[in-house]
Amino acid sequence: MIPFKFIFLFFVFWSGVPSLLNAQKVGLLMDSYIIDRWYIDEKLFTSKVKELGGECVVEVPHGDADEQLRLAKKLIEDKVDVLVVVPVDGQKAVAIVEAAKQAGIPVISYDRFIASQDVSFYISFDNEKVGKLQAQYALRKMPSGNYILINGPVSDNNSIAFHNGQLSVLKPYVDSKKIRIVADFVLHGWSELEAMMKTDEYLTNNKAIPNVIIAANDAVATGAIQALPEELVSKVIVTGQDADRTSLKNIIAGKQSMTIYKPIKPLATKAAEIAIQLAKGEHAQGTKLKFNGIEVDAILLEPIVVDKTNYKETVVKDGHISLAELAGK
Ligand code: BGC
Repeated sequence: MIPFKFIFLFFVFWSGVPSLLNAQKVGLLMDSYIIDRWYIDEKLFTSKVKELGGECVVEVPHGDADEQLRLAKKLIEDKVDVLVVVPVDGQKAVAIVEAAKQAGIPVISYDRFIASQDVSFYISFDNEKVGKLQAQYALRKMPSGNYILINGPVSDNNSIAFHNGQLSVLKPYVDSKKIRIVADFVLHGWSELEAMMKTDEYLTNNKAIPNVIIAANDAVATGAIQALPEELVSKVIVTGQDADRTSLKNIIAGKQSMTIYKPIKPLATKAAEIAIQLAKGEHAQGTKLKFNGIEVDAILLEPIVVDKTNYKETVVKDGHISLAELAGK
């Protein structure tokens, strides 16, 4: 007779095996870690996938779109159940979606839009609103004067959305000649150095002193501030985005005016939930939205304006950053 204890243990063991075997395999394809926020995205996303019983494989192409396609093919060969992609290049990433489609693997477009009809879900923030909030803030602080716009690369669809949002708000002020857009830079990458060089180049070649720099994100803002002569720092209104540590410190110090805070937790958590649903072969219902003529199931979260007056009630309260981190070097 087999003792009851062993029979019991046998069943306990076997009941655990299928769940291990059935764990949903999620492939997360990042872009790079140049901007702080992506560490947070990865950490929150992977831990939520684990909490939901899934397994996460992360690949990072370090800003190289061709490498991202290669890594996508590797994940497809490794038989992931779903691919979650932060596209390096929204057009080039269409090839990733096509390769995944052939293997029957759904793709989630994370934070940045991939221009394909076959994307299963797009989750991000209202990126046009990001640009609108930046421009509205600048206009409130400086309703007349010279404006410089510095945006990210067009390979990132968000850059185009930020720019469109900014222009939609600024246009009436340009038309009525209240403000003048003295430069409208589009960078090759989301690079602090490039933003610094562009600002420097502008200041060297132009007499019109900028009153506002609409910098699309915090890295760009930090670069632009570095190029400003001392007498202009704190006088020029500088916007940003991401609530990066450096920028929040600059905001407290009065060098940068504001940032746009996009709470990463709801984005990463929701994306992980959708990833598990799709991996199980279920349908994930979003709102049908159209981007560049392509309709997808999507969720767009709300961006939040943060400046010196509300950083404690927003980014600090949310645990995005601590007062100690803001006080440290
Ligand atoms: C994101 C921003 C980020 C930028 C650079 C954009 O697509 O929406 O939050 O600052 O990429 O990584």
